[in-house]
Amino acid sequence: MRLAGKVAIITGGAGGIGFAAAETFAREGAKVAIADYDTGVGEAKVSELQNKNFEVAFLQVDVSDRNSVDTMVQRVLDYFGDIDILVNNAGITRDAMLSKMSVDDFQKVLDVNLSGVFHCTQAVLPTLVAKGSGRIINTSSVSGVYGNIGQTNYAATKAGVVGMTKTWAKELGRKGITVNAVAPGFIATGMTAKVPEKVLEQMKKMVPLGSLGEPADIANAYLFLASNEAKYVNGTTLHVDGGIMM
Ligand code: NAI
Repeated sequence: MRLAGKVAIITGGAGGIGFAAAETFAREGAKVAIADYDTGVGEAKVSELQNKNFEVAFLQVDVSDRNSVDTMVQRVLDYFGDIDILVNNAGITRDAMLSKMSVDDFQKVLDVNLSGVFHCTQAVLPTLVAKGSGRIINTSSVSGVYGNIGQTNYAATKAGVVGMTKTWAKELGRKGITVNAVAPGFIATGMTAKVPEKVLEQMKKMVPLGSLGEPADIANAYLFLASNEAKYVNGTTLHVDGGIMM
């Protein structure tokens, strides 16, 4: 049990990668708060894990809304009594070429993918600082490091996440808190299901391993960074992308 007794919040925990992470963390002994916008899917999925006798709870949250985040964090503290790990995994895409991207779609992606990470991290910070320990794990993307056609907004946020990760690693290291990021490549989830088949084939050609990744591949990277095995890993971005970035 690599996370025995730890309390973890996983934002976007009802989605493809987030749910795989919730199950992985729970299997390793963590109490998991699945914090997601999507109540219908989220609550059903939580029941699935509770039926396996895992300690999980569903918390409805809009990470782009600070009041909603503060309420969610307080509810986690009320329910589980503590917070050790935050996985900032919630994310959205609103893809369009630069010439066609609306200001609303640009802003919406920033609000969720960038401000959402800021809100959640700031909201859990007092608890982690008071304990003198904690783990923050942010979700970047190959798009943020490499760029990707049609993803001005998304790439900006995912590059921004790397900048925040490094800054917080420097600010919080001496408080016993590590901050790292995972940069997934192309992973088979609802997010990539929206990509046309022809584009998916092109994407696969970019991957030295020749296939899309699975949600569990990212969940296992989150698990490593959350575990004691990664206690001296700080400020890094772990690329889990089949070898696209090297
Ligand atoms: P997904 O679409 O399956 O799951 C995302 C989850 O975030 C959904 O459950 C959704 O309800 C939730 N969410 C969206 N807006 C929210 C909000 N305002 N507040 C709270 N929750 C919200 O996507 P997937 O693939 O599981 O992505 C997880 C993370 O991995 C995201 O940050 C994504 O950008 C990143 N990623 C995914 C890649 C992929 O190929 N699937 C590649 C690189 C990064």
